[in-house]
Amino acid sequence: MKMDFPQGLRLMDKFNLDDYDHAYTTFRWEDAEEEIGWKPGERVNIAYSCIDRHVKNGRGNKIALIYDSGDRREFYTYRDMENATNRFANVLKDCGIQKGERIALFMPPCPEFYISLLGTVKAGAIAVPVHSKYMKDAVTGFLTDSEPSLAVTTGALRARIETGKIPSLRKVITTESRDADSDWRHLVSSAEEKPVTEWMDRREPMLLLYTSGSTGSPKGVVHTHAGTPQYYQTGRWVLDIKEGDVYWCTADPGWITGISYGVWAPFLNGATNVVCKEISGPQDCYKVLAKNAVTVWYTTPSLLRFLMNNDCNILKKYRLKSLRKILSVGEPLNPIVNRWSLKTFNLVVHDSWWMTETGAMIIANCSCFPVKPGSMGKPVPGVYAAIINEDGAELPPYEMGQLAIRSGWPAMMSGIWKVESKYREYFRITPWYLTGDLAYRDRQGYFWFQGRIDDVIKINSERVGPFEIESKLVEHPAVDEAGVIGKPHPMHGEIIKAFIVLNSNYTWSDRLCREICDSVRTKLADRLVPCEIEVCPGLPRTRSGKLMRRVLKSWEVGLPPHDFVTTE
Ligand code: WTA
Repeated sequence: MKMDFPQGLRLMDKFNLDDYDHAYTTFRWEDAEEEIGWKPGERVNIAYSCIDRHVKNGRGNKIALIYDSGDRREFYTYRDMENATNRFANVLKDCGIQKGERIALFMPPCPEFYISLLGTVKAGAIAVPVHSKYMKDAVTGFLTDSEPSLAVTTGALRARIETGKIPSLRKVITTESRDADSDWRHLVSSAEEKPVTEWMDRREPMLLLYTSGSTGSPKGVVHTHAGTPQYYQTGRWVLDIKEGDVYWCTADPGWITGISYGVWAPFLNGATNVVCKEISGPQDCYKVLAKNAVTVWYTTPSLLRFLMNNDCNILKKYRLKSLRKILSVGEPLNPIVNRWSLKTFNLVVHDSWWMTETGAMIIANCSCFPVKPGSMGKPVPGVYAAIINEDGAELPPYEMGQLAIRSGWPAMMSGIWKVESKYREYFRITPWYLTGDLAYRDRQGYFWFQGRIDDVIKINSERVGPFEIESKLVEHPAVDEAGVIGKPHPMHGEIIKAFIVLNSNYTWSDRLCREICDSVRTKLADRLVPCEIEVCPGLPRTRSGKLMRRVLKSWEVGLPPHDFVTTE
């Protein structure tokens, strides 16, 4: 099987168990490009590199995707995926979709999602995944901003796409539609199978994904085909995917982890990729691991804490002998989780750090050096990370400052959709990309996360913007003002706490509280409903009127108020 990765051993040779430092100093991105068959100056397509390339290399019969729906499993080989993604790309071509047009994918993880995503990218269009938990108003917001020509959804979610309000939308394709002209299965099975890969310039976009900041509505982060070598390299070196691995990433594809490491990295490395519906309990999770004999598992601290707190004599009940590697991302990994994992699975959890904007892992624990519990690890070869002060000067070990990355790594976002000024903000101190995270580095080069500079909230490791929730809260007539913070929570990381100023015509009651929560639920999403609402006489603001969420946080968790700058 060496034929599949003709240069594979070269990379691994450079980077064996004792040799992080050597790999770090000698690695060049061209090495990774060569392994995935990219030639200098040639046009590329990440979907082709993920799927078709393996078929060409004689691995067509290998299982690419296992869909585990709980009651049954579906298996797709790399050849099946090549065939289906070609057909989907042809469906788009038949609909007149041109390079660069947007295709919205509003569906939960299911085979149709993965086929549509890869088919979209193969056709040269830009995929816009929208988390399936969003309600009508929120979906309308994302689609109005991204202006897709076509949307793909499921029968159950179809009603949340308000065609009339999205002028760009020419067609909606639905799984389980009665109308042949819009039925996903009918269209895909009657489309031609001939390959239609659109060869792209590396810097051409392939993905537009919305994520939250502390101000404004969610922003559309744009990613290009140029990230391919980094998805491949981190998949190989951090996820440690090898021939024969069965890989499972628990993240929903509405979140970047579910795309970069739920699609690109496993397929680029030729793994068998397990996808399944939402996990509702620890039993579900262990069943997926056991039934599919998962070997490499990429998950979140939240899910691990959830399992830790619902320990159910796992190893007696489920045989998890195949599992050899656990990794996490999204929020700090508590050392206690690592102790539990070691006791339970006899495996240490390998943390990794990155952001929607970075596209791929930046700092991680590779297999080749020991994990220091509580640290995010070291920069992956090919990227340079530093701790800087306000002027952009690098700080020495153990001094806390902003985590910054030297701009120009392959998977770096190429823009913020329609808002150039927001993009520039990230790069305002040359040569850095500013992460907004606080951290320090130790003498051995490990990075330690300390917190966020802004008010971004992390719930179950997913990023939530307080502003989106505040905006929905004040749409209720009883709410004059609203301020939202993340309140620390032992299991979920944070939960949503809202402070509101009540309109004088209303009296606070449990019923009113439920009514306000319901309005957030129906307009935004169930997972964005505040867990606690506290009524207060006024909200703390700066002189310029900016809401000071940090003061709200100090009301909640008692930080010293002198920590706050009030002069703005
Ligand atoms: C946080 C996509 C601590 C961090 C992966 C970052 C982490 C934000 C870690 C990005 C980690 C991510 N330890 N914090 N290992 N990984 N974060 O774009 O604050 O949804 O800026 O993540 O998550 O969130 P996003």
